[in-house]
Amino acid sequence: MNLKTSTWDGVMIKHIYNGDCIANASNLSDESVDLMICDPPFGIGEATFDKHYARGKGKVIDGYQEAPDDYALFSKNWMSEATRVLKPNGSMFIIIGHTNLRHVLNAAAELGLYEINHAIWKYNFGVNTKTKFVTSHYHVLYYAKNEKNRTFNLNCRFGSQEKDNSGGSLLFQDIEDVFYIKKEYSNGKQRNKNKLPNELIQKIIMYCSNEGDTVVDFFLGNFTTACVAKSLGREHGGFEINKLAYEVGCKRLEEIEYGQRLKEMPKVVNINPTNQGSPLTEEDKDKICLRFAEMRLLEKYTVAKSNEKLQVEFGRGKFSIVNILKDKERVLKAEKKVFSLTREKESGEQDLAEMEPQ
Ligand SMILES: C[S@@+](CC[C@H](N)C(=O)[O-])C[C@H]1O[C@@H](n2cnc3c(N)ncnc32)[C@H](O)[C@@H]1O
Repeated sequence: MNLKTSTWDGVMIKHIYNGDCIANASNLSDESVDLMICDPPFGIGEATFDKHYARGKGKVIDGYQEAPDDYALFSKNWMSEATRVLKPNGSMFIIIGHTNLRHVLNAAAELGLYEINHAIWKYNFGVNTKTKFVTSHYHVLYYAKNEKNRTFNLNCRFGSQEKDNSGGSLLFQDIEDVFYIKKEYSNGKQRNKNKLPNELIQKIIMYCSNEGDTVVDFFLGNFTTACVAKSLGREHGGFEINKLAYEVGCKRLEEIEYGQRLKEMPKVVNINPTNQGSPLTEEDKDKICLRFAEMRLLEKYTVAKSNEKLQVEFGRGKFSIVNILKDKERVLKAEKKVFSLTREKESGEQDLAEMEPQ
């Protein structure tokens, strides 16, 4: 067995090991990991998967290590090491198919982990069947050592006010426990079997860890967790028993710039509507229309920008502002007021200028 750690970017020591995660877990100290994301072999003969998915032989990395026959013991062994290295406020995600789900659920209960969510990842490309329904989901189990004290960054991807074209809350849709995420096409790249989509891992990492946190995966496979974690500015580590997959993965990881994805992502605008729910008086509506007229006529903001600024200034939600501005008469009155105030101010300034000695 070839066990080694890598220090390739010279800045931080990454705990990436080529070896069995159970036998080598002692390389990681107790309570040192903020987030574990583990996608173990499912015990369903994954070695034959390339036949189902018609992948070209040359594109699949050989040497995938399947789970041992005793899946219950295997789950208990790796999960107790994962629990040991998890910080008291850390979170653990396990991605698993239905066949051996019960063994993972039993081990988690025995280890005293809190089940925060039992989510479903709904994917495309299920294997076609003629005598039963097509399986097109995996289970995404979200555990923590402490039910209350853990990271959950509610607005990491969407602001509370962001809506889709039909007025549905984007945030609510994003935090529902069925994740509709497509599997990735391989684009001709060489891959281990069963690569998870970057999108799924990115979602978990963003919600359940912070920049600089340590994210570990006991079954690195294609190094999806490590690569996404690095690109999101998280420390990353893990194990992969297959030497070939380990080598391809290390190369992939090397090409990623630490924090690169963070730079590309748009900033979430989260407006906290502090006055939401409190009644709106006629005077409040006049004030909002007056500020809107000032922003449009004097400060030259677009309608969208003005709306955003009004939400912040008046602590109201986006749709409350939109409804107030639908009152065209009130807006027109406010615009006239802004015009006359501006004119008054300008003529006052002119009078002053005329009074000044030449
Ligand atoms: C389901 S795949 C992980 C795929 C990975 N999440 C990805 O997105 O690429 C499971 C991986 O665990 C590796 N593996 C199996 N048993 C292992 C063990 N005891 N220790 C470390 N790696 C193991 C397999 O070789 C395989 O690459």
